[in-house]
Parts: sequence; C-alpha cells; structure tokens
Amino acid sequence: MKSRIIFWTITIGIIGGYLLFMGGCKNFNGPIDDGTTIVTADTSNTTPTTPNTSNQVCFTQQVLPMLQSNCASSGCHDAASRRDGYDFTSYTTTVRVGIIPGNPDGSRVYKAVASGGGMPPRGRTALTADQRAILRQWIAEGAKNTSCSSGICDTTNITYTKTIAPLLLTNCVGCHSGSAPSGDITLSSYAAVKTFATNGRLLGSVNGQSGFVQMPPVGRLEQCQITQLGIWIRAGALNN
Ligand code: HEC
Repeated sequence: MKSRIIFWTITIGIIGGYLLFMGGCKNFNGPIDDGTTIVTADTSNTTPTTPNTSNQVCFTQQVLPMLQSNCASSGCHDAASRRDGYDFTSYTTTVRVGIIPGNPDGSRVYKAVASGGGMPPRGRTALTADQRAILRQWIAEGAKNTSCSSGICDTTNITYTKTIAPLLLTNCVGCHSGSAPSGDITLSSYAAVKTFATNGRLLGSVNGQSGFVQMPPVGRLEQCQITQLGIWIRAGALNN
C-alpha cells in the first residue's frame, strides 16, 4: 500500500513536472542566441515614478510609445507574437529581457537598433538618431519605470512642426510608415497626415469612437495629446 502511494506520487510528479516544463518552454522569454539573460531591472516596479531630475528620460512618454510604434506591431514584438521573446507593450515585459540597466552598449535591445543592428527590419522605418539616443539614455539611467506627466496641458501655440509631428513620430509613425504601413495608412508626411486629419479618421481612432479602430492599438494617447490633435485639426490642420 505504502509503496503504491510512493509509486504514484513519483509518477504524477514526473508527468506534472514535464508538463510544466513544456509550458515553460512555449512561453520562453529569453533571447535566442547569446544564452545569457541578465535581468537586474526591477520588474515589480509596475507603478511609474517621477524622475529625480528634469532631464532624465520619461519611460512612459518617451520610450514605451516609441517601442510600441516601432517594434510592437502585430507579428513582431507585441504581446501575442513576442518574436524572439521580446514584448514591448508594457514596462514589465520590456525590461524582462535584453536590457541591462546602466549598460546600454551591452543591452541587446539597444544593440539591435544601433547602427548595423538590423532592427527594425527592412521595409520599416529606422529609429531616428534622437530616438536611439533616448533609448540609450534611458538604459544608462537604469531602465527605470518613470513617468513625467505634469498635469499641465499646453493648448496654445500648437503647430504641426513643434507639436503634432513629434507626437505622431513617437506614437504612430513606426507602424504607419515604410513599404507596408499598417492599415495602409501613412502618417510620416504632412500631406498624408492632413488627409486623415480632415476626413475625421485620425481623431476618430485616437478617441476610440465607435466605427473606428482604437489607436494606438495598445494603450491610449494622453488626454492632453488628444486635445492638442483636436485643436490643431479644428484650426485647419495647417502645415505650420
Ligand atoms: C503597433 C502598430 C500601430 C500603432 C502604434 C498605431 N497604429 Fe494605427 N493602425 C494599425 C493597424 C494594424 C491598423 C489597421 C487596423 C484594422 O484595420 O483593423 C491601423 C489603423 C489606423 C487608422 C484607421 C482606423 C479606422 O478605423 O479608420 C488610423 C486613422 C490610424 N491607425 C491612426 C493611428 C494613429 C494616429 C496612431 C498614433 C496615435 C496609430 N495609428 C498608431 C497599427 C498601429
């Protein structure tokens, strides 16, 4: 009797362990080729904190939307596809792999977008030098979960050049540019943006109005940004 209990305990243990292991493999989150996953960022830090100094990078406003737009489109590094284990749809998933806090040049995520790194792949828009610099600085500063929402919304002097184009560049252009733009919609030139600004689709989608697909697909622009887009569009969507 006793030996039978021991037999079944061991058997169930082995089968259970095997199933767990297989499940773990399927959801494996590591990098594919170098075999070293050094994660020292605090992934439990799910609530963003305000940076200590004003020139520190703001993860929530500057890094996450840029990674989402440029790297997390469907089939690439979004939550569903997680190509090569990378998922850039939240702070926790972003710092899980390929980022060594304080060491951008040793971080696979930075090396991938640095010159010669090959990411984003051909057909998609490369990060600008400014965008690469932001990513680099954020990792150098410890890859922290920072947010810089001041609560103040500048609703005056909104121009395409100073307000709208940078907003779209960070949040939308990665998906909506290149040789196969998402939804066949390009947002990387004024002329193209003007079309969707005037036909109502731009505002309809960022507001998640019924009849429109919510944009960006993950997360939502800050209310201030939606307000600024609305002001610019109502003033004639000028190339100012
Ligand atoms: C991660 C990739 C991604 C990002 C980032 C993204 N989009 Fe899209 N967008 C898509 C895809 C995919 C579609 C097509 C959706 C569909 O047809 O189901 C789309 C469709 C749209 C449409 C057409 C929606 C409609 O219902 O008519 C507009 C307009 C649009 N996007 C604007 C934006 C704007 C503005 C931003 C930034 C604030 C943005 N997108 C960010 C992937 C993205």
